[in-house]
Amino acid sequence: MKRVNVALLGLGTVGTGTYKMLQSNQDVIARKTGTLFEVRRILVRDLTKKRKVEGVKHLLTTRFEDVLDAGVQVVIEAMGGIEPTRTYVMKAIEAGCHVVTANKELIAKHGVELEQLARGKGVQLLYEASVGGGIPVLGTLQHLLKANRIHKVSGIVNGTCNYILTQMSEYGRSFDSVLAEAQEKGYAEADPTADVEGFDSAHKLAILCRLAFGVDVAVDDIPRKGITDITVAELEIARRLGYSIKLLAQAEQYGEEGPVALQVAPTLVPLSHPLSGVRGVYNAIHVEGDVVQDVTLVGQGAGEQPTGSAVVEDLCNVYRLPALRAASLRRPMILPAGEE
Ligand code: NAP
Ligand code: HSE
Repeated sequence: MKRVNVALLGLGTVGTGTYKMLQSNQDVIARKTGTLFEVRRILVRDLTKKRKVEGVKHLLTTRFEDVLDAGVQVVIEAMGGIEPTRTYVMKAIEAGCHVVTANKELIAKHGVELEQLARGKGVQLLYEASVGGGIPVLGTLQHLLKANRIHKVSGIVNGTCNYILTQMSEYGRSFDSVLAEAQEKGYAEADPTADVEGFDSAHKLAILCRLAFGVDVAVDDIPRKGITDITVAELEIARRLGYSIKLLAQAEQYGEEGPVALQVAPTLVPLSHPLSGVRGVYNAIHVEGDVVQDVTLVGQGAGEQPTGSAVVEDLCNVYRLPALRAASLRRPMILPAGEE
C-alpha cells in the first residue's frame, strides 16, 4: 500500500468535510487506488476553537512552518482569501508539495502564475472544488472535453444565492433570514458579500473561461450584478408570468479566437427550462461544444460534504491514481432493480 502524508490548511467547512471523508472513505480509497492518505498537520487560526471532528488536537498548529516540517507530500488549502494563503501555497509548491485547493478567488486571480510555478517544480496544482462544489466540472472540461471547440459555458454556480432565491420564492422567506441559514449551513463565504453580490460567481466564471476557451479573464472585467435587491414580490410576479429568477453566470466565445461575452446577473429563466428546476444549494453547469453539442452537470454546489468530496477526488488524482484496480473487483449478487 502506498502512503501519502497530507497537511490541511484550514479546518472550517471544507477542511472538516475533507478530513471526515478521508476517515470515512479510507477503505474505499485504499481499495480503489491502493493508497493510504494520512493527515499529519492542520493549520488553523484559533487553537481553542471547538472542532467538528474528534482526535485532531495533536495535529493542529497556527504556524505554517510546522506544516512544511511535517514531511507532507500534499498540502490541501481550505483557508480561503488571498493573503497569507497565496504565500503559503507558493511556499508549499516551492518545497516540492502538490497542492489541492478549494479557493476560487485565489485561482481566479493568481491561478496562472501558481500553475506556472507548479509546472516549474514538477508538482500538481488541482482545484476541482473551486467551482460547482461536488460537481466534477473542471475535470470534465480538462480531461473529457478536450477535442471539442467549446463555445458556451453557463449556469448556476453559487449555492448560497440559489438557496436564498429558492427559499424566498417557494416559502416567501426574507433575504436576511435565508442568508443567515446559508451561513449556518456552511454554504456562504466568510464574507457573504462575495456570494450575494456575484463576486464568487465571477471568480468561478473566470476559472471556467480559462479551461473552456483557453482565455485569461480578469475578474474585474466581468459585468456583475448580485441578488441583494431581488424581492419576494418580484419572484412571485416572475413565477406568475412563467419564470423563475436565477443568478446565472454566462460566457460565450464568438469564433475560435474571437471575443468572449460574459455576465453574472439575476436572469429570468422560463419555468419549463431545466435550470428553473435546479433548487436550493444545487448548481448546474451547461457546456456547449461543437461536436458533443450540449452537456449539463448538476449537483450540490456548496457545503461540507460535496466540497470535501471534490477535494478528496483531487487528492486521488494528484498521483493519477486508478479509479479501479482489477485486483479489487468482485462478482456481486445480482438483484432485480428496485429490490433490496
Ligand atoms: P471557513 O469555514 O471559514 O474555514 C476557514 C478555515 O481556515 C478555518 O479553519 C480557519 O481557522 C482557517 N484559517 C483562515 N485564515 C487563516 C489563517 N490566516 N491562518 C491559519 N488558518 C486560517 O471557510 P470554508 O467555507 O471552509 O472555505 C474555505 C475555502 O474553500 C474558501 O476559499 C472558500 O471559498 C472555498 N470553498 C468553500 C465552499 C463551501 O461550501 N464553504 C465550497 C467550495 C469552496 P479557524 O477555524 O481557527 O478560524
Ligand atoms: N459560497 C460558495 C457558494 C461556496 O455558495 O456557492 C461554494 O463555492
